[in-house]
Order: sequence, then structure tokens, then C-alpha cells
Amino acid sequence: MAKNKLQKFADMKTFDRVFEPEKEAFINGDFSLKGKWREKVFKNDNPIVLELGCGKGEYTVGLGIQDPSKNYIGVDIKGARIWAGAKQANEENLLNVAFLRTNVDFIEHFFAEDEVDEIWLTFSDPQPKKPNKRLSSRPFIERYLKFLKQDGIVHLKTDNTSLYLSTLDEIESHQYELLFSAINVYEKDWERFSPRMKEVMSIKTYYETLFGNKGFKTKYCAFKPYV
Ligand SMILES: C[S@@+](CC[C@H](N)C(=O)[O-])C[C@H]1O[C@@H](n2cnc3c(N)ncnc32)[C@H](O)[C@@H]1O
Repeated sequence: MAKNKLQKFADMKTFDRVFEPEKEAFINGDFSLKGKWREKVFKNDNPIVLELGCGKGEYTVGLGIQDPSKNYIGVDIKGARIWAGAKQANEENLLNVAFLRTNVDFIEHFFAEDEVDEIWLTFSDPQPKKPNKRLSSRPFIERYLKFLKQDGIVHLKTDNTSLYLSTLDEIESHQYELLFSAINVYEKDWERFSPRMKEVMSIKTYYETLFGNKGFKTKYCAFKPYV
């Protein structure tokens, strides 16, 4: 393994609010922070927002800085990616930012009923050959519904047209409540629509920049999956 990666893994163990549980610590339903993220990690009663497949965690950190009235948890399977966001959060002492290294397949083991207010899916893998592996597919939404509040919102930001369109199809076929959709976020007059959303959309992830530079348009939709 590259030395750089080993150093990042070692750094991760020293950062505050970074959790890398072994499977045995959560698979039997006894993850110690389940239902207790506010009390034990954030030490406040503020809403909790997840970024699933967060990569370097640009949304987790960016929203955490923009809006300290909410708590943000970035989730990804790859520790060497999380490292970037975790390092920034640690250096800037962002007390409302945490990271969880795990597979999203197991996400319901980490949060209790009604513990989460919002979920961001940022440039998720489009999984063209495995639609049920898409983080906006019904099997994942069913996992999220175990801990998402009744009025909870899922946000999807992607450069991938088929992931965007398949998510809109899912919203329609399962009769989720579509709150908003934009086929090109850069053409939207966010200032007029919502100055806060302009700020939110100004955060650019690593993949957004990578594919944006190749001409891919960024799409966004938000929905409430409870019916
Ligand atoms: C295309 S990258 C996007 C990363 C970041 N959100 C961005 O926009 O730069 C997809 C990320 O999702 C993570 N990922 C994919 N499937 C996952 C799963 N089942 N559980 C956890 N992480 C996953 C990958 O490790 C990767 O970091």
C-alpha cells in the first residue's frame, strides 16, 4: 500500500469526530452512537444531515461552515478520501462536522428512528448495470426511511444524466414528494429563487469539478421520500 495512504489512515485515527467501526461493532444492532449522535458527538439538539458517498467531504465541510445550526456527517467507504474533509474539519475545529467510514449498505445500523433530518447524495456512482445499487434506488430509500424524519429531505446532485432521470422516475413511481429539480444548476437564477440555495450550490465537490471541466452539466433534485 502506498505510504501516503498509510499515513492518511494513521492520521484518521487521530482526528476528532471520525468513526471507523469494525463490522462486529454495529452488525448486531449495538452501535454505541445509534440514537446518540447529538448527545455524545455534537453535544447539541440540532438537526443532523448526512452526505452519503461523501468522498473528500466537500458538502459535509462546506455546509458545516455555512450553517453551524445543523450537524453534518460525511459517510464513505474509502478512508483515504474522507481524510481530506476530516483533516480540514479537525484543523478548523468544526464541532458540527463528523465522518463515518462505512459501506452505505449498512447505513441503517448507525442511526435510530427519526435521528436524521436530511440526506445529500453528491455525485454518487451511477451504477449503470446495477440500478438497485444506486444510492437513490428503492432498496436504499427503504434503508433511509428507517432513520429519516417524516418530513426529511433527500438531495441529489449529479453530473450523470441517467442517474438524475432514474431518480426522477423513482420519485414519480413511488409517489415521493418532488420539491425541486434543475437540469443545469448553473443556469438557475438561484439569487431570485433562494439566496440560501445559491450559497449551497456554490459548493463544488471534487467530482463536480472534474466532470464540470469536461463539460458535464450538474443536475440537482430534492424530494421527500415519505408517502
Ligand atoms: C463518484 S465518487 C463522489 C465523491 C464525492 N461525493 C464527490 O462528489 O467528489 C462516489 C463516492 O461514493 C463512495 N461510495 C460508493 N458506493 C458506496 C457505498 N456503498 N458505501 C460507501 N461509500 C460508497 C465511493 O467510495 C466514492 O468516494
